[in-house]
Amino acid sequence: MSSAPCPSLLVLVAMASAASGQLSPTFYLTSCPSALFIIQTAVQAAVNSEPRMGASLVRLHFHDCFVDGCDGSVLLADTGSFVGEQGAAPNAGSIRGMNVIDNIKTQVEAACTQTVSCADILAVAARDSVVALGGPSWTVPLGRRDSTTASAALANSDLPGPGSSRSQLEAAFLKKNLNTVDMVALSGAHTIGKAQCSNFRTRIYGGATNINTAFATSLKANCPQSGGNGNLANLDTTTPNTFDNAYYTNLLSQKGLLHSDQVLFNNDTTDNTVRNFASNAAAFSSAFTTAMIKMGNIAPLTGTQGQIRLSCSKVNS
Ligand code: HEM
Repeated sequence: MSSAPCPSLLVLVAMASAASGQLSPTFYLTSCPSALFIIQTAVQAAVNSEPRMGASLVRLHFHDCFVDGCDGSVLLADTGSFVGEQGAAPNAGSIRGMNVIDNIKTQVEAACTQTVSCADILAVAARDSVVALGGPSWTVPLGRRDSTTASAALANSDLPGPGSSRSQLEAAFLKKNLNTVDMVALSGAHTIGKAQCSNFRTRIYGGATNINTAFATSLKANCPQSGGNGNLANLDTTTPNTFDNAYYTNLLSQKGLLHSDQVLFNNDTTDNTVRNFASNAAAFSSAFTTAMIKMGNIAPLTGTQGQIRLSCSKVNS
């Protein structure tokens, strides 16, 4: 048997790499072979001690990628002379998991210094979080580099809000080259994690007709009409710590927590996609993993662009 690689396989790998904008799943194969194992082990430990952390890490990757590409910009903390994205409206008092990423980065630096970017750690941690919560796996293209800047203004303009209409959501995703099916599939990440009362209050207190009455009533107990802004509710009330397709079955019975969830099933063009994902878990898994790879490929810095940060929360000095 010959050990020479099959030429057509090489062509396929090269094509796949070109299609994902120079990112490659084998990017750290020789430069940091232990990186993926370190990340996976740390994510599993974090999720074991708090399942919600898996959700927070998935969201962190989304909030990184939608703001000037997947470049680790969301991780840059404010300093006296620098204002980053963490204080922007969609992030302030809401994004979590930066400490887990810092901890992973410390371990990865100890194994291979200044080799693995924070942006790549976010992408892999998102995948490992989904898997740790029982969801599908996928191969993560790698080779992103880290930004030296961040933009609070872009975080405010490009991250969709929970009051968005379906057409606003479609436009926000299209701006990132993600189509409507990608948008519906990625919203399925709301099968895990929690939201604060301030983000769904209007919907449960008469602000919506497309909400299950008993569901609205049950939420009011922990989300008063005034006060309790930070009180939490599960985005998926049926299986909050399992990455499954229950998000979509909830939508069928008007039990979407956020307005921006329920607009995906509201007598409109996305209804059939929601029905399909609700009845066909494999179809959801396939669309979700495809869309996560597409999202992870939004405007990465590659080659000699940007830098490999030594610490994810600050630019190298
Ligand atoms: C479609 C547009 C989207 C809107 C309007 C939206 C909005 C929100 C809001 C308001 C929260 C609750 C934040 C809080 O109360 O602190 C949330 C949580 C979350 N979002 Fe989204 N989101 C969207 C899409 C996505 C996407 C594409 C992903 C990932 C692929 C995602 C993953 C998550 C996760 C996992 C949580 C829970 C986080 C936690 O518990 O820490 N979301 N989202």
